[in-house]
Amino acid sequence: MKTRLALLLSLSLASAAHAEDSVAEIWTAKCKSCHGPDGRAQTQMGKKEAIVDMSQPAWQQAQTDADIREAIAEGSPRNKKMKPYKDKLTPQQIDALVAYIRGMKKG
Ligand code: HEC
Repeated sequence: MKTRLALLLSLSLASAAHAEDSVAEIWTAKCKSCHGPDGRAQTQMGKKEAIVDMSQPAWQQAQTDADIREAIAEGSPRNKKMKPYKDKLTPQQIDALVAYIRGMKKG
């Protein structure tokens, strides 16, 4: 019983640490192709779909963390190109992406 608990604890710590370490990798692997390396969406898809520039202070201010989290988890109700990621990413990874996106704010 004690061993199982310790095992569970170390597994969840390991996955939390992993989620933090790899947020830039997740962005690069799963988000950059549309949103660009810096969230400014200066990509073919970004231009075609008129994806918002996430580094804009006005966009950053208009979004709550919950809004950003929901867009990632559930996808966009307006545009099917933004798919739901809740089955592909852990809640910790989604939280890490929210923080990562917050870090894209200019100035
Ligand atoms: C295939 C292209 C594509 C990929 C890959 C993609 N997105 Fe998106 N994303 C979009 C589009 C298109 C929109 C605009 C949706 C809209 O206008 O409602 C969007 C919107 C968003 C928004 C909401 C912005 C707003 O309109 O307020 C967030 C947050 C977001 N994406 C995060 C992510 C994250 C994080 C990833 C990677 C896990 C990701 N996206 C991967 C295409 C993509």
